[in-house]
Amino acid sequence: MTVPIAIIGAGIAGLSAAQALQSAGQTVHVFDKGRGSGGRMSSKRSDAGALDLGAQYFTARDRRFVEQVRGWVAAGWAAEWKPQLFNYRDGMLTPSPDEQTRWVGAPRMSAITRGLLEGITVNFGCRITEVFRGVDYWHLQDAEGVSHGPYERVVIAVPAPQATPLLAAAPKLAGIAAGVQMEPTWAVAVGFDSALPTPMDGCFVQDNPLDWVARNRSKPGRDAQPDTWVLHATSNWSKQHIDLAKDTVIERLWGEFAELVGCVVPAPSFSLAHRWLYARPAGNHEWGALADPDQGLYACGDWCLSGRVEGAWLSGQEAARRLLEHLD
Ligand code: FAD
Ligand code: NAI
Repeated sequence: MTVPIAIIGAGIAGLSAAQALQSAGQTVHVFDKGRGSGGRMSSKRSDAGALDLGAQYFTARDRRFVEQVRGWVAAGWAAEWKPQLFNYRDGMLTPSPDEQTRWVGAPRMSAITRGLLEGITVNFGCRITEVFRGVDYWHLQDAEGVSHGPYERVVIAVPAPQATPLLAAAPKLAGIAAGVQMEPTWAVAVGFDSALPTPMDGCFVQDNPLDWVARNRSKPGRDAQPDTWVLHATSNWSKQHIDLAKDTVIERLWGEFAELVGCVVPAPSFSLAHRWLYARPAGNHEWGALADPDQGLYACGDWCLSGRVEGAWLSGQEAARRLLEHLD
């Protein structure tokens, strides 16, 4: 009997590991508490079309990731985004063009993890609460009390605070994960019946409750959408207003947006807010992935490397590499 490998988390890190393991001939079973894949790289379906509320774009600096992105583009899952960028500081809005290549999922961010799911067994809507060892193998307990297994090895690909309890069987790894703080981000989307008269597609914001704003339909494959903008608050503002009602968050961030964008902004005809509790690691770590090879327990995710899409993907690759190097 081939005993599969369990992967908890169908974000980019978990699916990167899943692909690498499956390509090496292993059988994997992926679990995610969400209804779909992508985690922080997912897109939200709304009346205004699919909106990228989490990751906005990604850059590729590592050679391996550059090659992977090329593959995603060839598969039609990703495309280059060429935004007209601005910078806002001290009440001054200035164009801020640069030479950086930026990538997005097409026609929505979640297209990438959706593509990576092909041929992989996934249980969605399944929150794992415990990873425990039987006599020979690992088993997973979910929030409904159902037990899944047996598994030869387990890869935990969820944000550090959520990984900590799942790593209880490997106290050293659990201790490392427990030491990683992750900061929240409030995200708001506001849509307008007619397009705002601004050339801006994206704006880096300083010294403001906002950190970033983007015109969702300026990204490839989204041009049929209404003019909807995604606004991200800074970690600090998000922390200070973590329990604010969504309507108030929308009002506050929309107000800041209306002030910075440099044109008359009508009241939005559409709005929503989403709170990312574990949006980004507070510090930078270079672990690649965490491993307890003797027990067969691994952890990966953006918090192990750079806090970005690229780091999360590389971390999944590293977890798979370390797992494969310890197979009998
Ligand atoms: P996640 O995407 O968080 O995936 C973890 C998955 O595990 C989720 O799907 C979750 O549902 C699941 N899960 C958690 N706990 C359990 C459990 N107990 N049982 C089962 N499933 C579970 N990066 C960039 O490079 N560029 C950007 O512009 C950018 N902007 C961002 C903006 C925001 C608002 C946020 C939140 C993030 C942004 N990032 C950006 C960061 C980027 O999204 C992440 O680094 C990356 O997506 C993390 O991937 P991951 O697989 O490590 O984790
Ligand atoms: P990048 O190279 O485009 O941006 C890195 C940083 O450089 C930006 O945050 C910005 O401060 C600055 N910058 C880049 N281009 C600029 C320009 N033209 N004008 C003014 N400033 C510019 O992309 P990279 O390195 O891939 O970073 C990813 C982005 O994702 C960052 O902006 C980061 O803040 C964001 N992010 C947001 C998270 C959240 O929770 N809100 C979580 C993780 C990443």
